[in-house]
Amino acid sequence: MIPEQVIEEVKYRNDIESVISSYINVIHRGRNRVGLCPFHSEKTPSFTIYPDNQSFYCFGCGAGGDVVTFIRKIENLGYVDALRFLAKRAGMELPEETDNDGSARKRMRILEMNRKAARFYHDALLSDKGAEGRRYLLERGLTPKTIRHFGLGYASPDRYALMNALAKEGFTREEMAEAALISNGKYGYYDVFRNRIIFPIIDLRGSVVGFGGRLLSGEGPKYLNSSDTPVYKKSRNLFALNFAKDSGKDTLLLAEGYMDVITVHQAGFTNTVATLGTALTPDQARIISQYAKTVVLSYDSDEAGQKATKRASEIFAETGIKVKVLRLTGAKDPDEFIKKFGAVRFKMTMEGSSSATEYALDTIKNKYDADTPDGRLGILKESIRYIAGLSSPVERDIYASRLAGELNVSKDAIIMQTADEMKRKNREQRKKERNDLSVFSYTPGEKKDFERSRNIKAAVNEEKLIACMLQNPETIGKVMGMLDSELLATAAHRRIFEAIRKRHEQGAACSFTELNADLSIEDIGILSGIMAATGGINLSPDDIDHYVGAIRAAGNVMSKQQIEEMDEEEYLRKIREKMQKKQG
Ligand code: UTP
Ligand code: MN
Repeated sequence: MIPEQVIEEVKYRNDIESVISSYINVIHRGRNRVGLCPFHSEKTPSFTIYPDNQSFYCFGCGAGGDVVTFIRKIENLGYVDALRFLAKRAGMELPEETDNDGSARKRMRILEMNRKAARFYHDALLSDKGAEGRRYLLERGLTPKTIRHFGLGYASPDRYALMNALAKEGFTREEMAEAALISNGKYGYYDVFRNRIIFPIIDLRGSVVGFGGRLLSGEGPKYLNSSDTPVYKKSRNLFALNFAKDSGKDTLLLAEGYMDVITVHQAGFTNTVATLGTALTPDQARIISQYAKTVVLSYDSDEAGQKATKRASEIFAETGIKVKVLRLTGAKDPDEFIKKFGAVRFKMTMEGSSSATEYALDTIKNKYDADTPDGRLGILKESIRYIAGLSSPVERDIYASRLAGELNVSKDAIIMQTADEMKRKNREQRKKERNDLSVFSYTPGEKKDFERSRNIKAAVNEEKLIACMLQNPETIGKVMGMLDSELLATAAHRRIFEAIRKRHEQGAACSFTELNADLSIEDIGILSGIMAATGGINLSPDDIDHYVGAIRAAGNVMSKQQIEEMDEEEYLRKIREKMQKKQG
């Protein structure tokens, strides 16, 4: 735990405007500053800095928070690491008691060791002993420049080469084992990577955090990957993101393997990354969607690759990023494709890559024989199930029409069946959500917007109430007495409300900055949105009764439960009825 005063000091010494303007260009607009948002791609600035309350908010993508949130997002760091980063920037020494278990020191040692190991492997590749490794890489078409750029290396078949070299540098066996560089077996410790090409894995700060190794010849798994260590989590890192993040593109290409990434980079597409010997994880999907608007999946064309493609598009569906699928014919993977057909053709294929929906429907079609009635029925059933799962009504309509045309059945029939399928899915989903508490812990942006628009009156009053409490902290006690968070209509507001209540009960101060430590990045974004929207307005404590009343009244009109159980059409009909009554 870092003491509260130290956190305050770190923030005080890192003025938000000066920190942010070291990343983007900002211009004055009244008391505030605006610039192009670094978290999504845009042409007109909607990213705003509020020096008065030391916060930022982007009206385009909803990112927002204080200086620590900004550093967390842009440097991809955890809360404590972001504080460290800022402390260092301000020339401050964070107190020692933050490391009483020695874990920070240990991490530093491992990073230092990894850097030495990477250098050792790289030097070996360039030495006489590395001839076989060099020949292998050149045969696979990599240029010396690429080899240097990625810091590729060579691990000889010797069981103790790295271990001895690191021991000379003063590292202990225990430390090396903890860095997953050596392993303890029947005959004692030995090097993990032997007779392999080495791919260093570098994080966004430029530290070597782990390694991948490809077997050159003989027995053993084709690829070995570092296991997790105190500085490395496979599920949260991506190979080559350190380069891809600077590619200046709003598209990222996701490939399956190290060699694919390297060849594709060499061919000029530096916006390519890969997972590290595992299937895509939700964390990785979230990281990718922080850096890009569109992800192009370019997995292998074999069956395993197709399965992985399907799974990955499901995971990305949760993040809201646009997903495209690259279909490479005539080659097993991007590496082979570029070698066979060249970069130009690769680029053309990439530009023509189809949307995830087209790809999925194509895959369904290819599974059946469309010339038989059974086959056509199979395509129809499975495609309808897929179309019913699409969130956009326009998209559903387009694909329903297309399917009708292709199978020569009436569009109305397909639309009706899709509607039935959607109802069934909704029922299932609600049942699942009732049994699944986790839906309350994380609300992606879209769900939030949906919730907000369904409860617009309550939501707006909740936002004003929250802003009013933060502007007038002396009213927090009163509000807490009047309203239970359960009564709020949006999940994010409930969480923010709870965070305020907790701080209040502990007698702690409750400003926007302090709340940042208690909230998830998503909720901080939402709270900043609220602050930005009410920034120039003085909200008077006299209006609290009004806000609370409106929230209660909304709750009485339609309970949360009722709203959840109503489907979209039904809800819209209700709203229309209400409007007509008002006009009539
Ligand atoms: P592939 O087997 O498709 O290899 O594995 P590749 O990328 O085409 O490799 P080359 O071209 O033969 O050198 C793809 C990825 O799966 C993981 C690795 O991350 C690899 O890059 N993998 C594969 C493993 O982790 N272990 C293995 O034994 C094989
Ligand atoms: Mn390959």
